[in-house]
Amino acid sequence: MANRGGGLGTRSFWNKRNHGFKLADVTAFESEIERRLAEIRQRGLHRGLRRIDGIAGTRVAISGRFVLNCCSNDYLGLAGHPEVVEAALKATKDYGSGSRASRSICGSLALHHALEEALAEFENTEAALSFSSGYTTAISTIPALVGPGDVVVLDKLAHGCHVDGARLSGAKLRVYPHNDLERLEEILAWAAQRAQGTSPSNRPRTLIITESVFSMDGDHAPLRELVDLKDRYGAWLMVDEAHATGLYGPRRTGLAEELGVAERIEVRMGTLGKALGSAGGYICGTASLIEYLVNKARSFMFSTAPPPSAAGAAMAAVRVVASEEGRRLCDRVWANATAVVSQLRPGVQKSGIPGGPTAASSLIIPLIIGDELRAVEVANALFERGIFIPAVRFPTVPRGSARLRLTMTAAHTESDVAELLAGLRSVGLIEGQCGSEASETVVGNLSPAHLHTDAPTCAA
Ligand SMILES: Cc1ncc(COP(=O)(O)O)c(C=O)c1O
Repeated sequence: MANRGGGLGTRSFWNKRNHGFKLADVTAFESEIERRLAEIRQRGLHRGLRRIDGIAGTRVAISGRFVLNCCSNDYLGLAGHPEVVEAALKATKDYGSGSRASRSICGSLALHHALEEALAEFENTEAALSFSSGYTTAISTIPALVGPGDVVVLDKLAHGCHVDGARLSGAKLRVYPHNDLERLEEILAWAAQRAQGTSPSNRPRTLIITESVFSMDGDHAPLRELVDLKDRYGAWLMVDEAHATGLYGPRRTGLAEELGVAERIEVRMGTLGKALGSAGGYICGTASLIEYLVNKARSFMFSTAPPPSAAGAAMAAVRVVASEEGRRLCDRVWANATAVVSQLRPGVQKSGIPGGPTAASSLIIPLIIGDELRAVEVANALFERGIFIPAVRFPTVPRGSARLRLTMTAAHTESDVAELLAGLRSVGLIEGQCGSEASETVVGNLSPAHLHTDAPTCAA
């Protein structure tokens, strides 16, 4: 390739594949990427990957030492459950390490069918369909259901996979402020008016999509009201239970079950990589919905089926969740979350409850800091103390609402919880005296302004 290098000099690369020396002009490309990276850093939004070198229960080895993991979505601790791990191994032995092809092309493994039957039974629906991730579940289901001319309505805090699915669909996108039912109703009324006078076969459709438990704020969607509204305006509703499956309702299928509206929701989505400790996503609903998705969901049709190990593990996890042990694990994780939430300084967790909540309503406990760089500083201070809760920033959450996303699991022991509370106290996120070591060496450089609450930090 000709050298068309600019002022920064041209780099040469060995092209190993061709066993030859290939001079490539990458200067302009590289400098553009570096400029973009510098901009990301400058805005405090740079993400590095924290390498985990080992896992021992609730501890992860990072940078040469074990720290307490308080940011995992493995809510029930099933990713390390012996039965679940054994099922993954057995599935690998029985079926191999890979699924070899897309299920629509090269045959569909009995194991995937067995998982889907188990999911349908667990969710009490006619059928279920599994995908290789929650993300691909959403980005292929949404465009299968709606397209140009239709309307997708999203909550302002919608997960990226819903936004991407909505964009891919080509439908008109309308966004309502977080959980704002009045604004949602206005949008639904507008969409219903647009559809007036059209024949049923070419009527524009309206699809509302929401999480049941919001992934970054941990609050709940008003599912009962959403179901009433969508019925009133003839819209469809898709509910993503990613952070609720295994955790809510008498049978632990999610918030829709707890609120008694599961049967009234057209499209119910779950993920296998969070409380179910495996990997993947699924849709459950009527047999015709599932048959339709087999024919129309592009990431199902045009992608290799999830590995047997993931399907085997997910099946075992569903068995555990539905069992008495599942109930015990669920009770334990809620007790752990409540032990933390009940101690947080008022205002640290977004909450309309005066004095702050006393019981956890979600296992996602956002500790709102606000400023992106400050959130990173607080996360670093906690990390120094051996507590791993990374800062979550834009674009995962809106700008200026950076937070530590603390999550609890059933695997956390009482002493883990005590250690976490001491760490949070040391950075001023919960009330009380902090240890001298913590106040001087860890949070000595944090001022009250590092926290969005006006409570003093332990360093004061
Ligand atoms: C609400 C929600 N939906 C979907 C997903 C995507 O699931 P997965 O991680 O299996 O791709 C996530 C994960 O971050 C999520 O929080």
